[in-house]
Amino acid sequence: MAKRSERPGRGGPSLPTALIHHPYQPPAGFGAPQPGVHKASTVLFANTAAMRARTWKEKVGYTYGLHGTPTTFTLEERIATLEGGAHTLLVPSGLAAIALVDLALLRAGDEVAIPDNAYNPSKELARHELAHWGIGHRFYDPMDPASLRAAMNPATRLVWLEAAGSVTMEFPDLRALVGVARERRVRVALDNTWGAGIAFRPFEIGIDISMHALTKFPSGGGDVLMGSVTTRDEPLHLDLKMTHMRMGWGVAANDAETVLRSLPSLPLRYAAQDAAGRALAQWWAARPEIAQVLHPAHPSSPGHAHWCGLCSAAAGLFSVVFDGRYTAAQVDAFVDALQLFRIGYSWAGPMSLAVPYDVMAMRPKSGYRGPLVRFSVGLEAVEDLIADCEQALGALPRLTTSR
Ligand SMILES: Cc1ncc(COP(=O)(O)O)c(C=O)c1O
Repeated sequence: MAKRSERPGRGGPSLPTALIHHPYQPPAGFGAPQPGVHKASTVLFANTAAMRARTWKEKVGYTYGLHGTPTTFTLEERIATLEGGAHTLLVPSGLAAIALVDLALLRAGDEVAIPDNAYNPSKELARHELAHWGIGHRFYDPMDPASLRAAMNPATRLVWLEAAGSVTMEFPDLRALVGVARERRVRVALDNTWGAGIAFRPFEIGIDISMHALTKFPSGGGDVLMGSVTTRDEPLHLDLKMTHMRMGWGVAANDAETVLRSLPSLPLRYAAQDAAGRALAQWWAARPEIAQVLHPAHPSSPGHAHWCGLCSAAAGLFSVVFDGRYTAAQVDAFVDALQLFRIGYSWAGPMSLAVPYDVMAMRPKSGYRGPLVRFSVGLEAVEDLIADCEQALGALPRLTTSR
């Protein structure tokens, strides 16, 4: 009996082999708005000499899927363009991007300075893994450059910046903070997720590294996790790249393709979410139920003057602090009553989101007395979002006396 895999009468390879070694040629001369998707763990070499000639330290050809494919290299170039940098590395999440910077630049005995209103998992990484490895950390008040100066000492090797601050949305004087780090010649990394390469040009304020949770605006769909680390300085990029390689933090081509597809609409989405976020923040500012709007473009928000001095736009992300007479349970009932704003973490996707926070426990020094709700404004019509907030406020009891 003829073997099942034989291709009778053709004299070619067997069927399983023929299905793998298909005479496929990349479509030279084929043009399309989006780049092709190239998926690989294994990258093939024409011969051993070609294999030995390749190195993954520089982007000279391809070596192994983990270290880059045409799809991930294309996205890296686009993110470098977005940030105004020269070199970008992609990692599987924004938090992994923070970890990459910490792991690449810090050794046992070093210290890192982190804003006390930073994205909390970054602080947790310092409190746990970095501490276990003998790396110290100090939290500073980003609204007071003297606090950063006081937090630095000869062991400080890295200063993190974040603008706006996580949840409480303070906008620091980034130039002044960079100046303090420069006094001691310490490297500065910025979490640029909020600015997204749109609100301001991160490298123009003198930072060394721009870290970006691509999960937010660049993905734009609420469906992809990815992070990036961008630099202008090539030796610094190569240091980061070696750690990236040793940690095995590659990203999947399909995820990279999704972000590539969303990138062209990023400026439009950012502008739309900014406009809706400001309109909504303005509406909230006139509501008697709240004590404060926290939105960098709103005059009452901490650091508004710094935002005015640096930025041309703002992300559609803001918080409101409720009157201190409302309990957390009452504000939870308001959040539960929202229909269009859904309850969920993250931001910058098409669907508006709301999350209540216990700001008094989270930022005791802030002096805020009431529960806080953070809103991520999506791409719905702003009048519908305002109507949604208005109807959900019906879940709150009326306050009898004024503040
Ligand atoms: C400011 C900021 N940085 C980093 C991250 C982490 O991004 P990811 O969720 O992709 O790990 C987040 C996520 O919420 C964030 O808000």
